[in-house]
Amino acid sequence: EIFAVIMAGGVGSRLWPLSRKKHPKQFSDFLGDGTMILKTFQRLEGLVKPENILVVTNKQGELLVKESLPDILPENIIAEPIGKNTAPCIALATAYIRKRNPNSVAIILPADHLIQDTLRFQQTLRGAIDVATQKAALVTIGMKPNRPETGYGYIQSEEGDTALAKTIFDAYQVKAFKVKTFAEKPDVETAKGFLKSGDFLWNSGVFIWHIDSISREFERSMPELFKDLEAIYESIGTPEENETIERVYAWTHPISIDYGVMEKAETVYVMEGTFDWSDLGSWDEVLKLRLEAGSLENNADENLLLLDSQNTLVMKPTEKAIAIIGMEDVIVIDTDDALLICKRHRSQDVKQIVDTLKRKN
Ligand code: GDD
Ligand code: MG
Repeated sequence: EIFAVIMAGGVGSRLWPLSRKKHPKQFSDFLGDGTMILKTFQRLEGLVKPENILVVTNKQGELLVKESLPDILPENIIAEPIGKNTAPCIALATAYIRKRNPNSVAIILPADHLIQDTLRFQQTLRGAIDVATQKAALVTIGMKPNRPETGYGYIQSEEGDTALAKTIFDAYQVKAFKVKTFAEKPDVETAKGFLKSGDFLWNSGVFIWHIDSISREFERSMPELFKDLEAIYESIGTPEENETIERVYAWTHPISIDYGVMEKAETVYVMEGTFDWSDLGSWDEVLKLRLEAGSLENNADENLLLLDSQNTLVMKPTEKAIAIIGMEDVIVIDTDDALLICKRHRSQDVKQIVDTLKRKN
């Protein structure tokens, strides 16, 4: 049986002020065609049954998930007491899936990625499911890098089971490699080296594995968290369920699955993703994608008035009228309580502003 887990508990602070603690980026609609989490859900159509899609979020996110995903079963929304990064989030979801069917493959997905080519995406996942079952491996999807990005994980691959790779390629037109090294968020010099060497892929943050395989790796690399997973598993459906989860989240160490498990795991495979992929990490990226899609200027909002203004991204979830005259390459993001005006190509610095604000509050 195939399950999917959408991880939707992150904040996404580089897209301030639209994305923030109370309204993280996965619940926003940047391109005018639905919230990111809705598109993540819809991208699984035909591959994973809606009743097998779980969403892990925090208490605040629960309502936003319900609003965004009309087709989700309420019991499939798992609320964490607080965010402890992706390793505990995945351990929690693993316990629930194991309870439903211990013989399951789980697809773990970030809620805030942009992928348009659903067909290729699903083919890649189908190949990954095959590899994950046949090799009892942790499988990731790797993307060709094009810049020394330090916010991603890097995957170095080698030939693995060539016979299997051939069957997979014939069936799905997807390349499968064995992972030699997995390096999460390298510094910029290391990232430059990786890029130059040509044999690294970016980790897309999508994982595919059998429930047994990930449980075994938790036991090996994160024995404490594995014990917590077991305790939660035992408590599911009993009166102690909530209390157990609260207790685990009170002490568990915040760490991502990449550092906690992937860097140390033994049998890891990577599928080379050939679909378009963006983690929509900055306003510049939103602007670029909307320019490409031709949806920058033809904004349907009649309260938005642009006069002789090119390459200008305006987002305003409010009714307020905004007029811009004779400007080029600007990003304007207006919300109820904060306004961002940023020159194009400077949006990486939004993080600085957010850090300053955090220090002040
Ligand atoms: N439920 C829950 N709880 N979800 C979380 C939590 C948490 O505590 N923390 C993060 N998430 C969700 C985020 O909302 C996002 O959808 C996903 O998990 C990934 O978390 P990020 O915080 O966005 O990770 P990242 O971007 O720094 O790094 C990961 O993704 C990169 C690709 O975008 C890593 O897997 C990298 O290796 C990868 O390259
Ligand atoms: Mg991310």
